[in-house]
This record gives sequence, C-alpha cells and structure tokens, in this order.
Amino acid sequence: MTVTIVGSQLGDEGKGGIVDVYGDAADVVVRYQGGDNAGHTVVFEGDEYKLSLVPSGVVRGKVGVLGNGCVVNPRTLFDEISTLQEKGLDPDVRVAERAHVILPYHRILDGIEEDVKSETDQEVGTTGRGIGPTYEDKAGRRGVRIGDLLDPEVLRERLEYVVPQKRALIEDVYGLDIDSLDDPAALDVDALFEEFREIGERLEDRDMTVNASAFLTDAMADGQNVMFEGAQGTIIDIDHGNYPYVTSSNPTAGGAATGTGLSPGVIGNGEVIGIVKAYLTRVGSGPLPTELGGVVGDTPDYDESTDGRNEELAEYIREEGGEYGTVTGRPRRVGWLDIPMLRHSARVNGFTGLAINHLDVLAGLDEVKVGHSYTLDGEELLTMPPTTEKWADCEANFRIFDGWDDVDWAAVAEEGYDAIPENARKYLDYLSAELDTPIYAVGVGPGREETVVVEDVY
Ligand code: GDP
Ligand code: IMO
Ligand code: MG
Repeated sequence: MTVTIVGSQLGDEGKGGIVDVYGDAADVVVRYQGGDNAGHTVVFEGDEYKLSLVPSGVVRGKVGVLGNGCVVNPRTLFDEISTLQEKGLDPDVRVAERAHVILPYHRILDGIEEDVKSETDQEVGTTGRGIGPTYEDKAGRRGVRIGDLLDPEVLRERLEYVVPQKRALIEDVYGLDIDSLDDPAALDVDALFEEFREIGERLEDRDMTVNASAFLTDAMADGQNVMFEGAQGTIIDIDHGNYPYVTSSNPTAGGAATGTGLSPGVIGNGEVIGIVKAYLTRVGSGPLPTELGGVVGDTPDYDESTDGRNEELAEYIREEGGEYGTVTGRPRRVGWLDIPMLRHSARVNGFTGLAINHLDVLAGLDEVKVGHSYTLDGEELLTMPPTTEKWADCEANFRIFDGWDDVDWAAVAEEGYDAIPENARKYLDYLSAELDTPIYAVGVGPGREETVVVEDVY
C-alpha cells in the first residue's frame, strides 16, 4: 500500500519529520516533484539530517527514488550522497530516466529573471536552484533528461540545440555578456557535454537509473510499502497555489501519480496525509492574510518603520520555531493558521489524515488565533479565492483560543493524545472538525520521538 505525504500550506510544514516517523514501515520512499529547492529535516538521536534531493527515508536505510516528476541537479545529488555517507549512512538512491536534469544554465537564468522582476517588485523569491527554468524547458520540449545522460549522441544533440538558445536569451534579450558571468562554462556545449556525460557514466556504473513506473510497480507487486514524499506545499503548487508566487511543479497529491508513473487509483487507495504546521510560515513573496509581522523584501508593500503589525509576536514564534529557511537561511514570514487555505488544501488533496506539527512552538502564549474565514467585498468566504489579487484583498476573521503551557513534550509523545494539554487539544479538535479529517499524528518537537502518533498508517 502507499502513503502520500503532502504539504498543506506553503512548504516547511515538517514533512521530512513525518516521513521519518512513518518511514519505519515503508520499503521505498519516493520524491515525485521538485528538486533541490526542498529542504527536509530529520532529527534522530540528536543528529540532524537536512535533505534537499535525497528522499528522507534514506535516514532509516530505505530505498530512495527520484521520480520522473522531479528535476534533478546531479551535482547536488552526488554531494548530498557523499555528505550522508560521511555521516555513516549508505544511501541507495535511484533516479528516474524520465526525470529532467537541472543544468548549470538553469540556475543562472533563475537568478537573471528574478533580478529583472525585482526591478518592478515582481520577484517570486525563488530558491535560485534553477527549478522554474528547468520545468520551462521540460514543457517546452527542449529539456535534457536523466536518460539522455546515458547516451553520448543524444546528450550532444540536445545540448547543441538548446545551449545556443540560452546564449541568445542571455545576450540578446537580457543584454548580458556571457564571459562576464561567474560561470561562463555553464553555456559552453563542450564543457557541459564533458561534465554531464561523466555524470551519466557515474549513474550507470552505480546502477542508479530506473524506469520509476516499472520499478515501483514491481516493488508493490512484491508486497512492498511505498511512501511518496511531497516537497513544497499546496499553496505554492503551480496549479492550485497562489500563482505566480509558486514553485513550478505539483506538490499536491495528484502529482504523486504523474510524477512516478503509478496510477491515480494506486495513490487514492492509500493514505494521503496532509502535513500542517500549527501556525503559518512562508519563504518568499506573495500575500498572506494572517501574517503577523513582516520580512523586508518578501512581505509585499511592507515598511518596517510604519507597519503596525504584531512584530514582536512574529519574532517570538520565528525564534521559538527556528523559522529560517533550510535551503537559503532566509527568515521565514510568520502568521496565524489560515483555515480557508487549509479547506482549499483538504479539497484539492483529499486528505485521509492530518499530521499537525509544531504544537510545542505555540506553548506559553496567552492566546492563539486562527483565521477562520475571510471577508472579501463584504462577503464571508470559507475557502481561498482562485486569484492571488483577490486573496491579497481578503481580510481574515479571527477566532481566539486560550493558550497552553509548555510541558515535557517528550513525555506527552510517549503517553499519547490525551496527555496533550486540554487547550491545545481544543485547537487540534477544531482543526480536525473544520477539515473533516482525522488527526493521525501531532508533532511536539523536532525529534523522531517527539511525535504523538495517533494512527499507524501501514
Ligand atoms: P519540510 O520542508 O516540510 O520537511 O520542513 P523543514 O525541515 O524545512 O522545516 C521544519 C523544521 O521544523 C525543521 O527544523 C524540523 O526539524 C522542525 N520540526 C518539525 N516538526 C516539529 C515540531 O513538531 N516541533 C518543532 N519545534 N519543530 C519541528
Ligand atoms: P520544502 O520541500 C518553502 C518557495 C520559494 C519561492 C517559491 C518558488 O522544504 O517545503 P522555486 O525555487 O521553487 O522556484 O521557488 O517557492 N519554495 C519553498 N518554500 N519550502 C520549500 O520546500 C520550498 N521550495 C520552494 O521560497 O517562494
Ligand atoms: Mg523545508
């Protein structure tokens, strides 16, 4: 059977931790979209593992697969495998031959386009990993796939077609001089061919490439349990998120089918767990109706000196929750839980269960608020409107919950759900009722043992 882990908000909900908690019973853990824009954290016995491309299940020694829906930067992949090996792990990672390759020029183009957009305050605040440009090339049928690295003739043919286009884009459209870029070799066919052909050989020597659909189908036929590890989150999904402040893939549950080659029926027959952070964080630009404070450069129209928001509380939660980007180190924007956002997310993904993380971070506050609904043009809305401009105009209507004390959370995790402070349980029960979805797990700290497991999923 399968379990699909999906971010219900804007990423960084603690997906890596939940993959780790439930991963014991999985045999294979699969990323189905995104690339090294992700930063997933697993904390076990005091060791912290930060994974951006390798599926989090490798910490438990599970086979990791990067599905066809992923965009793979092979430099990051091999670096990450080496780092994990230095930590004493022996990651077994397979990469779909249909997955697309992030080439060095994709990162350069990501940076250039963000710079140009920033002149008119339109930047997305991407991770700079070349994600968007790689998915653009995939959709434009000019991408290079992992399978292409295995065949020198095909690789050269692809590069000879695409690289002159990128050179022209940089020189003629953006008016930049390639030789004065940091890495001019990123736009040199011969240099690219040499490096990426060598990578192809390495992938082949280590027997790392697979037909993901066949590999996973065989694993399931053998009775193995498969876990899908979504990256990013529903509100930065290219189709269901707040476009254009999104990533370029489908983190939502449907992506697990298209991004691996297993049928929607297989995914739908399994569990789909929505990972919820007990408050809200966002890295990058775009609206956030329940935002508490602001981050210069990311919060739209934000002026530190004149803004009357609850800066102090935002700062407190940011520090308590360690809310700084795993990939970029940027401070994350912080807000109260947004229920209209989560109702949208539950509908899009069809969650069968919820894992609610970071309950401990809110402990000690006098009161905890949630955005229960929005008011837009005098009307009450219970879910997010489809355009980002309308979303930005929504005003949150808050409900207030009494706060809960800081307690020995590890002891709570051991005792179970009823040991969670009563006021916190009221908050959780409200959330479960609003989303009409049972709670499967509650995160009360970053470590594997700091999770209240209500439901075993396999
Ligand atoms: P992901 O991208 O969804 O996997 O999440 P990240 O790893 O980027 O960010 C989540 C951060 O919160 C990491 O530092 C986790 O170790 C930490 N974390 C996860 N769950 C909890 C929790 O329940 N409580 C606390 N305090 N931290 C948590
Ligand atoms: P995990 O898997 C939070 C955000 C970026 C930016 C937008 C587009 O750790 O939850 P991109 O580089 O993907 O083109 O950037 O998406 N973003 C994330 N935010 N968590 C992530 O991943 C993210 N991956 C991308 O900050 O706003
Ligand atoms: Mg993250």
